[in-house]
Amino acid sequence: MIDLTPARDSLEPIETASREEISELQQQRLAWTLSHAYENSPFFKKQFDQHGAHPGDFKSLADLAKFPFTVKQDLRDTYPFGMFATPREELVRIHGSSGTTGKPTVVGYTSNDISNWSDLIARSIRAAGGRKGNILHNAYGYGLFTGGLGAHYGAERLGCTVVPISGGMTERQVTLIEDFRPDIIMVTPSYMLSILDEYRRRGLDPRQSSLKVGIFGAEPWTNAMREEIEEAFDMHAVDIYGLSEIMGPGVAQECVETKDGLHVWEDHFYPEIIDPVTEDVLPDGEMGELVFTTLTKEGLPMVRYRTRDLTRILPGTARSMRRIEKITGRSDDMIILRGVNVFPTQIEEQILKCDGLSAHFQIELVRSGRLDAMIVHAEATPAASSSDAREASAGELAHHIKSTIGITAKVNVHEPEGVARSQGKAQRVVDNRPKD
Ligand code: DLL
Repeated sequence: MIDLTPARDSLEPIETASREEISELQQQRLAWTLSHAYENSPFFKKQFDQHGAHPGDFKSLADLAKFPFTVKQDLRDTYPFGMFATPREELVRIHGSSGTTGKPTVVGYTSNDISNWSDLIARSIRAAGGRKGNILHNAYGYGLFTGGLGAHYGAERLGCTVVPISGGMTERQVTLIEDFRPDIIMVTPSYMLSILDEYRRRGLDPRQSSLKVGIFGAEPWTNAMREEIEEAFDMHAVDIYGLSEIMGPGVAQECVETKDGLHVWEDHFYPEIIDPVTEDVLPDGEMGELVFTTLTKEGLPMVRYRTRDLTRILPGTARSMRRIEKITGRSDDMIILRGVNVFPTQIEEQILKCDGLSAHFQIELVRSGRLDAMIVHAEATPAASSSDAREASAGELAHHIKSTIGITAKVNVHEPEGVARSQGKAQRVVDNRPKD
């Protein structure tokens, strides 16, 4: 793989600023956010008043802990436009994330918000190894989802030639990658695997594709998956993180030269890690739930938003801003099976150890008698698709799961193409337990 480390002088000064400079900026911007939210969003005014916290109480970064958390339910309760801190007329765009209840959670952006977002995506693509003039194939979904348009505006800001293909129509994805010869692809890692299948189905060698870097996010994925994709395409695979409530993609980004976790763009977002049960703030280095406060958002400022994502904060490396470790999973996705906590990413790691299995999988939860049980639906590679080979792979995977995670899972190895494909975020867990 070619070296794509950006030149030091192409970075913005804040990317290499000292910790003191970053903290000072954060303190100023946090004070602004707290007053802006309190004065302009009736929701936040009520929250702060009920909690006995006033923006004037904020004197140092540690004082943030005096302010109340915000949760997804608050967005649902104020649906659609009740949380905004600017008049609706000031918003130039709305996005949303699909909720389980059918109605999306709605977020809104002023023109300045869109401009900051574009700058941060441009910074993220540069950190991933992208440059002005690159062709960028954007297969994140366009629409209410923040992935498509968010990446698009930032790629244009950096000066890339954007191919706005969105998700789906996998055959056409491969045709356009072959014809337009993009340098960069932005897509969910699970959908990248479908694109890989299509390469192989057509007898094309993915290592000969023009792609030099993939910027993968919107769902958890493991370092084992990184190796799988990097090897298959002979390209760099780096992680991008974000969530619509805070902005969208580009809240944190992994650097291509280190691939050691994601630098939080701390000039725009203030991260905290809390113990999800006691809600206490934990020191850097400890695992817990990631919480964000926005520092520049006008339309929808967010104060101490509980993401449900589990990770820890690590010191800066390639940039001075602190990193978050690759996300293990969301607390909502955690499966508790007979007392053992399991994340789909742990199953992914075990699947990728088995030569006879492709990287596609889904976990089904069922009730067996009075106990919960897990069925892992995995898929054979074409070379290992005979029934004997599939049985052997099933035994191998069940053994790895038992010996590393400590649970007994039933493994079904399907024929190639036998597991449902994603065109965006993969649905890793299907819960077929009776509702009681
Ligand atoms: O998924 C924004 C995005 C688009 C990020 C494209 C990256 C690329 P939401 O639909 O609001 O926004 O979902 C946010 O997705 O809280 C995480 O649980 C998960 N997530 C996003 N990026 C990552 C990642 C977009 N790199 C939720 N690793 C977040 C693990 C991720 N999980």
